[in-house]
Amino acid sequence: MLSKLIDRLPAASARKLNLLLLSRSRSEPAAPRTGHINHILPRLIPNRIGLAAGFDPSAQAPAAWQRLGFGFAELGSVTVNAKNSGKAGREWRVGERGLIHSGEFGNPGLTVFAENLKAFRDSDGGSDFCVGANILSPDGRGNEIRMLGQALVDLVDYFTVNASCPNTAMVQTALSGPIREIKALVGPAEGKPVFVKIEPTVRLDVLEAMVESFLLAGATGFVAGSSLSSHSRDLLPGITLPWPVRGGPHPVKFGAFSGPELRDINLAMVATLRRLAPDATIIASGGIYEKSDLEDYLGAGADLFQIHTALARGGREAVERLIYADGEIGTRAQLMQAAE
Ligand SMILES: Cc1cc2nc3c(=O)[nH]c(=O)nc-3n(C[C@H](O)[C@H](O)[C@H](O)COP(=O)(O)O)c2cc1C
Repeated sequence: MLSKLIDRLPAASARKLNLLLLSRSRSEPAAPRTGHINHILPRLIPNRIGLAAGFDPSAQAPAAWQRLGFGFAELGSVTVNAKNSGKAGREWRVGERGLIHSGEFGNPGLTVFAENLKAFRDSDGGSDFCVGANILSPDGRGNEIRMLGQALVDLVDYFTVNASCPNTAMVQTALSGPIREIKALVGPAEGKPVFVKIEPTVRLDVLEAMVESFLLAGATGFVAGSSLSSHSRDLLPGITLPWPVRGGPHPVKFGAFSGPELRDINLAMVATLRRLAPDATIIASGGIYEKSDLEDYLGAGADLFQIHTALARGGREAVERLIYADGEIGTRAQLMQAAE
């Protein structure tokens, strides 16, 4: 009944109401502790399913994500100063399972984010649950990234910085911003994992350059990938999406798409990254809804999985289904053996 009502609300209002309900719910996790205790993140976690960035940009509800059964949650993106008055931004439903979001990265800024995380850390939860901070400097300023790192290092288990995929022949020049950000973060991170989140791309030269330069700069792994920006919409040939349009004399499509159609691009990216960086940690993100998506990403080389749209569109049942599935799949070696 309530879920039908929520479905009728605009997507952004539905998200706010869902977040409120989830953060107030006191129910025990219905999903099992599947025993995928692993050494990938600094704390032992009970499964490989995490919440992806953008769902909780204020670090409002880490306890709720833990109660829901997630093994980890990536909070943010957070910037030093509040962005878009702290409002998360607009979004639109696409088909049965997709979303387009405005790409505004609205958040309340570092002070509120850190206070919320501190309250979570001061509570007695969090022992078998990892929290990551997805940090962002809108203009790629190393000093902002350093400030975010210093303020959050005692409150989080890992960091992620966002890197756009350059659509240019000058790949190395275009990567200088993210390289500067990674270098600025490595000291303040005090040995905690530093991941780089990579937008969907099919360009091998870009992935090769990213792997080489980001790992050299001090990154420990990748979140691959993210939602697909309207600028990269030709990566989905033959698929027409209802992009929002910014008016004026020269209207432009904007926003970023998340949905099942994203899966194959990001899956190929995970496979390439694993080949190029056999020892790096890879967190898969993009179009994960079913057990078969987990199997495919694990087979391609992912260590952990993140979900965003499956929760936004499918609610807590979707999360619980994926946590059960994660428990059934086992390790990559077991998956490969079963496939033989
Ligand atoms: C409404 C919305 C907001 C998002 N905001 C962010 C963000 O602030 N930072 C970020 O790194 N990714 C953000 N993302 C991308 C997601 O974290 C995720 O990588 C992407 O949606 C693909 O995963 P999915 O198919 O499970 O949704 C956002 C996605 C959506 C749908």
